[in-house]
Amino acid sequence: MQFFIDTADTQEIKALVEAGFVDGVTTNPSLIAKSGRNILEVIAEICAMVEGPVSAEVAATDHETMLAEGRKLAAIASNVAVKLPLTVDGLKTCRVLSDEGHMVNVTLCFSPSQALLAAKAGATYISPFVGRLDDMGKDGMDLIDDILEIYSSYPDLQTQVLVASVRTTRHVERAAMLGADVVTVPPKIIWDMFKHPLTDKGLEGFMKDWAGTGQSIL
Ligand code: E4P
Repeated sequence: MQFFIDTADTQEIKALVEAGFVDGVTTNPSLIAKSGRNILEVIAEICAMVEGPVSAEVAATDHETMLAEGRKLAAIASNVAVKLPLTVDGLKTCRVLSDEGHMVNVTLCFSPSQALLAAKAGATYISPFVGRLDDMGKDGMDLIDDILEIYSSYPDLQTQVLVASVRTTRHVERAAMLGADVVTVPPKIIWDMFKHPLTDKGLEGFMKDWAGTGQSIL
């Protein structure tokens, strides 16, 4: 399973690139707003830091403007994946950009039907939002299970399932258990994945016992 980082904060991305855990990056208009930076500049900077796909989302909602914005975003770097909303105009735009050879990430997916439509429109990635479904009292991971089952019945569909709106390390674990292709994770959740109290306690014990030996490996 690939790990994408869900942020437009280049310092956070740099730290995780150095740790070796970044297969790609996803952004959205809210994350760009949070960064306080110009979208074209920040996407260019992220694309230079990361070899894998970097999702950059259009801001328009009509087909013609989405297409123009998508082409402009795709021209920033060869690893840009144009992010489009799951609407009629969004999927129309997806078909065109996909046929032109661009990577497309279809976002704001909340049902298996929507995921099926995105795959038929040639999306490279479908982004089901598990956390926002959990927020409504549903189990967002059920949607991932359903989409993976549908896609597995049709091997010709090339769309990858990108688990989005991740809130906990358990979301990441369950995405991996279900065999999702990609999970996009806020930086804090990646760092949380390292943590376990028994790891800290165990290491403390090993270091204490080691100090008692008076040895040095180097
Ligand atoms: C990623 O592509 C999505 O934009 C993001 O995961 C949404 O997460 P949120 O529901 O926490 O805003």
